[in-house]
Amino acid sequence: MYDYLLGGFSNFPADREAAERVRAVYPDVALAMRANRAFLRRAVTYLGEQGITQFLDIGAGIPTGGAVHTVAQRANPAARVVYVDLDPIAVHHAWAMLRDNPHATAIQEDARQPEAILAHPEVRRLLDLDRPLGVLLVALLHFVPDDDEAEQAVRTLREAAAPGSYLALSHGTDEGMPPDIRPQLTRRYTGTANPARSRSRAAIARFFADWELVAPGLVYTPQWRPDDPDDPFRDDPARSLGFAGVGRKP
Ligand SMILES: C[S@@+](CC[C@H](N)C(=O)[O-])C[C@H]1O[C@@H](n2cnc3c(N)ncnc32)[C@H](O)[C@@H]1O
Repeated sequence: MYDYLLGGFSNFPADREAAERVRAVYPDVALAMRANRAFLRRAVTYLGEQGITQFLDIGAGIPTGGAVHTVAQRANPAARVVYVDLDPIAVHHAWAMLRDNPHATAIQEDARQPEAILAHPEVRRLLDLDRPLGVLLVALLHFVPDDDEAEQAVRTLREAAAPGSYLALSHGTDEGMPPDIRPQLTRRYTGTANPARSRSRAAIARFFADWELVAPGLVYTPQWRPDDPDDPFRDDPARSLGFAGVGRKP
C-alpha cells in the first residue's frame, strides 16, 4: 500500500485496492507518506552528521527512492545498514536492490521479537552493537497496536544499544485528525496485513524513555528540521497526522 501511494511499482492489485479505500476517507494519505519519507531522509542525514555509521532500520518496507543505505552511504560509503521487515516481499525487493552492496542487507524478522533481530547472524556480521547505532522505527509502531508489546520491543532495543546511539521514530497520530475520519480510517486498515492504530503525542514520547530528544523534539513530521520547501504540509503540519523525533542514548 505504502509503495503504491508513494508512486512505486512493487505492488499488487490487493495493495492498490486497499490503498484506495484508505485514500477515499483520507485524501491526504499519499502526501502524509511523502512527508514521512522526507523525515526519514532528514533523520538519516542528521545521524550521519553526528558520526553514526551503522543503522538498524526496522519496518523498513521496500527501500524506494531516498532509501536509507543510499542516503547513509552518500555521506559515508562504508556506512552499514540492516533492513528488517516482516513482509517477505519487502525483504526480497531489498535483496535484489542490495545484491552488489557489501555493507547493507535485509532480514525477515518481526519487530515484536527484537531479541531475534539483535541475535540474527546478519546483524552480528554487519553491525557492532558495542558502538553507537542508529535505530530507525519509522512509520512502524502504529502497526504494533498492543501497547505492552510495542513498549517491550522498544525497551529491548534501547537497552541493547550502546551509549551515543540514536533512535529515529515516526508514528501516526489522531491528534489533529478530523473526528469523523478516525473510526473510518481504523476500519480501512482492519483486515489488511497491517492493522494500524494511532497514538497520542504523549504515548509516542514514552518510546524514547530517558533518551534525550534532539531539537526540535517530538513534533509533527514536517516540522522536524525541514530542509526542502517542496516537502508536503510545511505550512499545515498537523495534516501529516504523524509525529517524529530523534533521541540520543546518554
Ligand atoms: C509504512 S511502512 C514504513 C516503511 C519505512 N520505514 C518508511 O517509513 O518509509 C511500514 C512497514 O512496517 C512493516 N511491518 C509492520 N509490522 C511489522 C512488524 N511487526 N515487524 C516488522 N515489520 C513490520 C510493514 O511490512 C511495512 O513494510
